[in-house]
Amino acid sequence: MNITPLSPAAFQHSLLRWFKQHGRKQLPWKTDRSPYRIWLSEIMLQQTQVKTVIPYFGRFVERFPTICALAAAPIDDVLQYWAGLGYYARARHLHTCAQRIVADYQGEFPRTLEALQTLPGIGRSTAGAILAFAFGESAPILDGNVKRVLCRVHAQTGWPGLRPIEEALWKIAAQYTPRHQVAEYTQAIMDLGALICKRSKPDCLICPIQKHCLAYQQFDPQQFPTPKPKTSKPTRSIRMLLLINDRKEILLEKRPASGIWGGLWSLPECSLTEDIPYFAQTHYGCQPNTKPLLSYPVIAHSFSHFQLKIHPIQLWIKKWSTPAVDSRALIWYNTEQLTPIALAAPVKKLLSTLPLQKM
Ligand code: ADE
Repeated sequence: MNITPLSPAAFQHSLLRWFKQHGRKQLPWKTDRSPYRIWLSEIMLQQTQVKTVIPYFGRFVERFPTICALAAAPIDDVLQYWAGLGYYARARHLHTCAQRIVADYQGEFPRTLEALQTLPGIGRSTAGAILAFAFGESAPILDGNVKRVLCRVHAQTGWPGLRPIEEALWKIAAQYTPRHQVAEYTQAIMDLGALICKRSKPDCLICPIQKHCLAYQQFDPQQFPTPKPKTSKPTRSIRMLLLINDRKEILLEKRPASGIWGGLWSLPECSLTEDIPYFAQTHYGCQPNTKPLLSYPVIAHSFSHFQLKIHPIQLWIKKWSTPAVDSRALIWYNTEQLTPIALAAPVKKLLSTLPLQKM
């Protein structure tokens, strides 16, 4: 069976000609293509859009200009520069990966798919992108954008999260990946996915590979890729406590290293059924004064696998004594200075919108 509806040479030619005129060539990680910058950008770009990544990338490389600087930095600093990008396991893997490359490879990235894929946070597609962009080595990639382009060009049915569909797409991706100009080709197919072959409302009329696209010929590109079979996300509800002392400082607690917002600073949490003043006293040594508790509007925060409903509530603390929880994981945070620390995203938003003058 011939699985290419057009020859790889014709596909590459059309794509590269389009890229020359319309591709994104000014991305900050492309001005200096060191393996470190390429790797960092690829990790940041997993699950995050280019326009969001650009300012984070700039701040990150200024603070951690080399892989050795990153490996030597405390994880808290790394998390602080990541805070807001989400999917914090990426930041922890990034840090461990830097340490592995320094310890096992004298600070130089390995140049094979196999070795790259043994490193934390580097899967098959990211390894391919590093080889193509940093070393000009011919290796296919298959990120979300590329999956969408290939599903459409080949009218591939079936949800790409399924093993056999993904394997079929890897085969197609490998057929099209050229030996030469692989960095341009790789950026071109990513850009085509991001700029033309968009998830909704693709711009088929100006697409350089329109005349070869089976989905276009079938008049319905948007039915590809086949969506994931629906399962509704479970919802969890929690209380977040804004425990405020008479210096207008707020109690923050560091999250455990693994799990949601791992290693970030957040607010103390309890269940909705908890007796709040009693909980504050017994867990955090916070004795509330007699002012009424103040509820804030519920914040909905979406994770990939569940929906979190946060119910913030404010208490004034008149006395603080030794807490039952680990006091090394607690700080009193000045709400007037808002010193930059690695805060969980909804907590950062909540603190920045509090009516401080009334507190
Ligand atoms: N997504 C993942 N890698 C990318 C890159 N190099 N450019 C644009 N989007 C991307």
